[in-house]
Amino acid sequence: MPGSSIDCNALRQLGDDIFGHPPFLTLGQPAPYIRLAQMKLTSHPLFEKLRIFAPGPTPVPEEVLAILGKAPVHHRTPEFAATWERVWKNLEYLYQTKQPCYVLSSSGTGAMEATVTSCLSTGDEVLVLNAGKFGERWTSIAKAFGLKVHEVVTPWGDAINPDEVKKALTTHPAVRAVLFQAVETSTGVLHPVREIAKTVHDNSSALIFVDAITALGVCELPMDAWGLDAVISGSQKALMLPPGISTIAFSERARKARERATIPSFYFDLKNDDKSRKLGQTAWTPAVGLIAGLDLILQRFKEAGLEAVFKHHLRLAEGTRRGLQASGFELLAKHAPAPSITAVMLPKGCDKGEALIEYVRARFGVTIAEGQDHLKGKMIRIGHLGYFDELDMITVLSAVEMAAQHVGIPVNFGAGPAAAGRYFLEGSL
Ligand SMILES: Cc1ncc(COP(=O)(O)O)c(C=O)c1O
Repeated sequence: MPGSSIDCNALRQLGDDIFGHPPFLTLGQPAPYIRLAQMKLTSHPLFEKLRIFAPGPTPVPEEVLAILGKAPVHHRTPEFAATWERVWKNLEYLYQTKQPCYVLSSSGTGAMEATVTSCLSTGDEVLVLNAGKFGERWTSIAKAFGLKVHEVVTPWGDAINPDEVKKALTTHPAVRAVLFQAVETSTGVLHPVREIAKTVHDNSSALIFVDAITALGVCELPMDAWGLDAVISGSQKALMLPPGISTIAFSERARKARERATIPSFYFDLKNDDKSRKLGQTAWTPAVGLIAGLDLILQRFKEAGLEAVFKHHLRLAEGTRRGLQASGFELLAKHAPAPSITAVMLPKGCDKGEALIEYVRARFGVTIAEGQDHLKGKMIRIGHLGYFDELDMITVLSAVEMAAQHVGIPVNFGAGPAAAGRYFLEGSL
């Protein structure tokens, strides 16, 4: 990597020592950091494992992979209609709502866009609670459709303060919708969704749109009980599926707003979905394979019970945080860390985050996420939403420590996995 401290020659030599030949692919003459990413030095490719610890896409359980490997059924058949019916019902369970849910063939951003275009009209005023990279995305989407955007900007790492929301609603009484994240994935913060929603309801008639892409299926987010008007998720997160579909549920208030909304759209005009739904069908050709996978995951959630699913995530998050802190890293989200992702800062002045990330990928086949924007190189982010268990977290904590040691980031070597292990053995929630 340009400017990084990774010594490619030493790594290549290490490969030579292990295998008798450098184990990386030679595709022309790629830049050194690309060659590095193609290396895998601990094992021969025959034994190679790729491990994803990003906050999405997340690993996919084998039983879902088996479903995805089957020939797709046609979507205008009774077989698919039965799956579709079950998915609708079980999404209502996951969302804790009595309202109908939608499945879109898009990543999560498509569902964010569909929410804006379905419920609002050009020129409407909205309030974005921007506390990171994905808060910024709400602003970009809203501006793209000609909405007048007001923002409450929260420093990265902090949770949104409902009092600031109240102030902004008082200053801008014409706001028609308040848009924010449940978990801000760029900072690893869990925002106080319930308190924010109450503040909005107490101080305005604005709709509440929650990007729950890294929160739904991770933590308590009962849509109806908390009065949320649109809640959005994506398949490649806690739903343990590959990327490609997203989900939305709208409240009764949002459905009324949809009747008067005028932003034009075609593919994401959900009125088509409403019409098709009455016939037990989808508007367009759906992602049948992913929907079959979703069907299975939703059934598994129901069998486990949401409470158990949430508890599992809390446990993994707590163990991961303890481990990273014991290694010597500092949480970015000190006061409201998310149950789905942990973001930690490297020691002050250290910007070797990218080198660490490249090293875990090159050496161990482990993918973790980097810091974004001004935190690029200064932090790392580890996902623990979806198909992870305790030993997975100990594995990634070990990989991070080894990489840190290698690239010259001071760590308490061995302390992270030990602290997590102790917690997983003895700790209770
Ligand atoms: C909170 C949040 N919002 C939005 C997105 C964008 O989702 P997608 O990449 O599926 O469009 C992500 C993706 O990581 C996210 O974490």
